Amino acid sequence: MAITCLSYLGVNSEHSEDWLDFATKILGMQVTEKCKNSYSFRMDNQKQRLSVNYEKDSYKFFIGLEVDSLNDLESYAERLERAGVLVYQGGPNIASRRFVESLIYFHDPQNNRIELVYKPMLDETTFVPGRPILGFKTDVLGMGHVVLQTDNLAVLLPFYRDLLGFCVSDFTLTPVTAYFLHINNRHHSFALINTGKTGLHHFMVEYNHLDDVGQGYDLLECKENSIAYTLGRHTNDYMTSFYTYSPSGFLVEVGWGGRIIDPRNWVPKEMDIGPSFWGHERLHLPDELRRKFRKKRLETAAIGMKSPPIINCPWLYS
Ligand SMILES: [Fe+2]
Repeated sequence: MAITCLSYLGVNSEHSEDWLDFATKILGMQVTEKCKNSYSFRMDNQKQRLSVNYEKDSYKFFIGLEVDSLNDLESYAERLERAGVLVYQGGPNIASRRFVESLIYFHDPQNNRIELVYKPMLDETTFVPGRPILGFKTDVLGMGHVVLQTDNLAVLLPFYRDLLGFCVSDFTLTPVTAYFLHINNRHHSFALINTGKTGLHHFMVEYNHLDDVGQGYDLLECKENSIAYTLGRHTNDYMTSFYTYSPSGFLVEVGWGGRIIDPRNWVPKEMDIGPSFWGHERLHLPDELRRKFRKKRLETAAIGMKSPPIINCPWLYS
């Protein structure tokens, strides 16, 4: 029994027209379903990777995680209920809106809505990107990654690690505490960051071509205050990326070149360098915290830390 990948993300937003522009023209997703206040977006042959709806006084977002079988859904439901978590069976109506055969849903200890899904529907038509990109790195690796922020890591980490079975890839203790967790060969599909707030911190989409990241960066640089982290490269997953603001206010990481790991041999460790080899100036942070990140980054550069060379690089070309 295991969760195999991040299947989709859903956002509850009254800014659905802004999301339409952002998801297609900036990120390069394909819009496939349009109803009143509701959009579905594709990133590959899966019918839905991003869903934007507006439901007043409802959830803020939901995270869809895929499992291998109907038995897995039952086993997870039993395990969660034994731990005192209220688990709901998703009926045919929700399943059709999520474009999956079956699902259960529940909330983590900080009321973030999680959905476990079996058999997402595929679309037989070719993916047509919203801007001319060479596609997203998805398939068995899933949609990308999601990062939750929290003011209580001690309650969220055991929920995801011990109850849902996510595995720690690595963690940082300064300038902020953050845990990065894997569920497949992607270095992390999920992370928790202790910002003192709760909710969605960011989601990440990964492109097949670095130039699609750069061309997205150019599109945003034309708009005032649209870059949250400048272009940079992370020390743990080697992702070359920048961060921008979604129409809902949380961040979106736009990346390329993320690390592929072998979970069977992986040993979790503390990352005391980084979190970036270079770049990722955090323009959105207050000055003092921003300075702490910059100092640590310059110390990382001063000792010559770099990602592995691209030639014969196992995390990119395996
Ligand atoms: Fe990220």
